[in-house]
Amino acid sequence: MSFTESSFQAIEWTGDGLRLLDQRRLPGETRYLHFTAAAPVAGAIRDLVVRGAPAIGITAAYAVVLSAQRHRDRDDWQAGVAADIEVLAAARPTAVNLVWALECMRTCMSQLQGDPVVALLAEARRIHAEDVAANHRMGDSGADLINTGDSALTYCNTGSLATGGYGTALGVVRSAWAAGKLADVYAGETRPWLQGARLTAWELVQDAIPVTLITDNAASALMQAGKVQWVITGADRVTANGDVINKIGTSQLAVSCRHYGVRMMVVAPVSTLDLSIADGSRVTIEQRPASEILEFGGQPIAAAGARAWNPVFDVTPAGLVDYLVTEAGVVAAPDTRKLQALVGMPAQGSSAR
Ligand code: MRU
Repeated sequence: MSFTESSFQAIEWTGDGLRLLDQRRLPGETRYLHFTAAAPVAGAIRDLVVRGAPAIGITAAYAVVLSAQRHRDRDDWQAGVAADIEVLAAARPTAVNLVWALECMRTCMSQLQGDPVVALLAEARRIHAEDVAANHRMGDSGADLINTGDSALTYCNTGSLATGGYGTALGVVRSAWAAGKLADVYAGETRPWLQGARLTAWELVQDAIPVTLITDNAASALMQAGKVQWVITGADRVTANGDVINKIGTSQLAVSCRHYGVRMMVVAPVSTLDLSIADGSRVTIEQRPASEILEFGGQPIAAAGARAWNPVFDVTPAGLVDYLVTEAGVVAAPDTRKLQALVGMPAQGSSAR
């Protein structure tokens, strides 16, 4: 099987609506949900029907098309769409791709001539296609960093389910595997939603890439045993100084990497960079219900009366990141000046490499 094509399409415009693969049901059940209005799509993003930073941005872009379809016969249709954009933007707070994609749609709307649905659909399709293309570029660049015979641990799900297709960190795993470089691929389960066990393992098994699952608390032991040379993750937001906001647990992986001499590679498209925010301490970290930890599949698993703290992202300090791989280039030891150079912002005395 080719690693460039998925056997499934997690986000698909069907002509009259938007079809999403319900990621909450995987791997047991492959169920698609169909949407014809924007507000239910916001609910689907909030409830993790679709998740992963680029995927929720792409989904929201198509939801704006649904909004335009619904409102276009009204004189004040743009006000209706703007209100839906606000609802979509509030669905999840941490991944910058969501507001980035909505900003692209807002800009498109402000420059519209002719049928808004045609123009907005073209813009949503562009965002989707460019994400897939960026993932392939990052896959190749990230794979170039890996030595033949290396092994890698990946975390959360950063594959075709989390993006427009192919994946960020999982795209690097796919490209490196296709190039014959990777000896072993490990995936962390990723409590409490098990994106690693349910989704990453599902994608890799479909691609016939052997995957070994570990519990999240086995990662440091895996490194100590010398079983991996790389930890490869995605990001939900990268701030101006290179801090990486990603799935809760990423920062403890990065700390362990530094201790054991394992290299930390973060793979994220330029749409995940947020140079308007100085550092990770200023990013809103999504808190989800305690029930996600205290229950499993609706069944209580913790002692009755126990409380839970459930932030679903954390901040990995830039100083713990060895490589940031983007479609615009690879940045070793990212910092403010290198990121500014990468995106072409005026900066003094530094190159992106
Ligand atoms: O809560 P989730 O499943 O949306 O979290 C997803 C992650 O943290 C991913 O690692 C991140 O979005 C990068 S995906 C390409």
